[in-house]
Amino acid sequence: MTTSTMTQETISYVCSTVRSRSAIELDISKSYLIEARLAPLAKRNGFGSIDEFVQAVKGKTKLGMESQLVEAMTTNETSFFRDIHPFEALRKTLFPEIRTKHAIQKSMNIWSAACSSGQEIYSIGMLIRENFPDLASWRVNLVATDLSDDILAKAKAGKFSQLEVNRGLPATLIVKYFQRQGLNWELQSEVRNMATFMKLNLIERWPQLPMMDVVFLRNVLIYFSPETKRAILEKIRKVMAPRGVLFLGAAETTMGLDAAFERVQADSSVFYRLK
Ligand SMILES: C[S@@+](CC[C@H](N)C(=O)[O-])C[C@H]1O[C@@H](n2cnc3c(N)ncnc32)[C@H](O)[C@@H]1O
Repeated sequence: MTTSTMTQETISYVCSTVRSRSAIELDISKSYLIEARLAPLAKRNGFGSIDEFVQAVKGKTKLGMESQLVEAMTTNETSFFRDIHPFEALRKTLFPEIRTKHAIQKSMNIWSAACSSGQEIYSIGMLIRENFPDLASWRVNLVATDLSDDILAKAKAGKFSQLEVNRGLPATLIVKYFQRQGLNWELQSEVRNMATFMKLNLIERWPQLPMMDVVFLRNVLIYFSPETKRAILEKIRKVMAPRGVLFLGAAETTMGLDAAFERVQADSSVFYRLK
């Protein structure tokens, strides 16, 4: 039984719009989530209920409301150095390997796909600054993309709350790379400027991307159907450099989806490489 205050029609419309615009799978069992996310949005747009708001979205009475609805249903949970192991693998094994491999051209490309508010790409930036000072003379291309304009704006700004910096950052890195700004912490421009943020919807046409040495595609495939996961992994393959590596979230795998990848276990971290 559902205690939802939304009509069945509203719930169906939200689920199908979110699915077609982002591939995120929602159904009636998530109506509590739809309600929690859309009630504040409806109110902010001046509507008395989610039903009224959705009617207006359907009628396209105000530009951008459909995108707001879709973005409100994304989960932006992230943190600095999330699940630490991928970053350890970069530090111990992968960056030293890439440094040797690209010693002549002195460039590398790293992509945080579904970057949310930027903690993932900025963690990589700080890791490079801390451990590989010689890469300062390289062209280190840190690309970070997401579907949501709002979250990309937050990521670009590089401003984080006390709670956000406390999640995953040791005090030494906070002091070294952030300046206090009122209640927030602002990331130093040298690290901020290492990253390029772009809008990219994983299920739409992708802009031209360089061949990636490392791809972080973490904690986003879980929201998609197996067919969508397969289609995205196939596209990811096409932008991976030879010997490139793919990191997925702890609950995600290519197994059973794309046989072109092999799972590599290095210490406590798992990544995927093309066979
Ligand atoms: C849970 S966050 C993951 C953040 C980061 N990768 C991490 O693991 O900490 C998921 C992100 O995926 C984005 N997202 C959802 N659907 C997407 C799509 N179709 N294309 C691109 N990004 C999408 C959301 O906007 C959200 O920021």
